[in-house]
Amino acid sequence: MTRSILITGGSRGIGRACALHLAHVEAAHLVLLGRDIPALTATAAAVREAGGTAETLVADVTERTRLGELAKGLGPLDGLVAAAGISGMTPVDQDSDAFFDQILAADLTGPWNTVRAFLPRLGSGGRIVLVSSVLGRFGVPGYGAYCAAKHGLVGLAKALALELIDRGIVVNAVAPGWVDTAMAQTGIRQIAAATGQTEAQFRARAEAAVPVKRFFQPEEIAQGIAWLLNPANTMQVGQCLNLDGGVIQS
Ligand SMILES: NC(=O)c1ccc[n+]([C@@H]2O[C@H](COP(=O)([O-])OP(=O)(O)OC[C@H]3O[C@@H](n4cnc5c(N)ncnc54)[C@H](OP(=O)(O)O)[C@@H]3O)[C@@H](O)[C@H]2O)c1
Repeated sequence: MTRSILITGGSRGIGRACALHLAHVEAAHLVLLGRDIPALTATAAAVREAGGTAETLVADVTERTRLGELAKGLGPLDGLVAAAGISGMTPVDQDSDAFFDQILAADLTGPWNTVRAFLPRLGSGGRIVLVSSVLGRFGVPGYGAYCAAKHGLVGLAKALALELIDRGIVVNAVAPGWVDTAMAQTGIRQIAAATGQTEAQFRARAEAAVPVKRFFQPEEIAQGIAWLLNPANTMQVGQCLNLDGGVIQS
């Protein structure tokens, strides 16, 4: 039977890669949610080319009411991936208040809004994956808001997992390391500028700090997420799967 999976942040990067992977391996129906209409449309076309079917929902995950309205018009879902997110530096001794609020709204409250809105569409056997980060496992100077949001997501996955398991819904998180997307490129540029390095120097140091000595492709992260979405996964519940090439070993 065709599974229907909703992916926030389905327009680009890791969310897009998840959509294409699921279209390719199981001809899934993908519900792609994001703000950028041309990017959503392009991803939906790529999903169809990869063997799946797709629909798009134009929404901002910070808009709780809008998500609720969209959910009412949807059919049943088998899975939900909360991949939408933003990143950036919020140094504590600079005027970072507005950006702090924005990051928390998109990266922590956004996934909460998403689960709240679309949970009524998920029945027994449903799977939820929240996309955290290695910055949800350890701190990085200057990234207070992002680290707080991503640590928060790991906690949210743990609590929701216990709250929903009796309904047959399995909730987990993933913690990717550096993944080659637009977000990572922006991060490299910002950290290089803040630490007086060239982008190439910072990237080389960041890669050297990963035991497997490289960044990851979004398609590799999609495979990890696909495992947690699989109905065969009944053992990993409320966990955070590290997808980081050996940075974190617990
Ligand atoms: N790249 C990395 O190194 C890395 C590492 C660890 C974790 N992550 C996490 O992985 C997730 C995906 O990141 P990525 O690297 O794929 O980033 P990306 O290429 O910048 O894509 C971000 C996605 O999030 C969507 N989005 C952002 N804010 C949104 C909002 N308010 N409402 C709805 N959609 C929103 C964007 O869609 P629209 O533009 O269409 O709104 C886009 O599809 C994020 O949660 C990120 O924190 C990334």
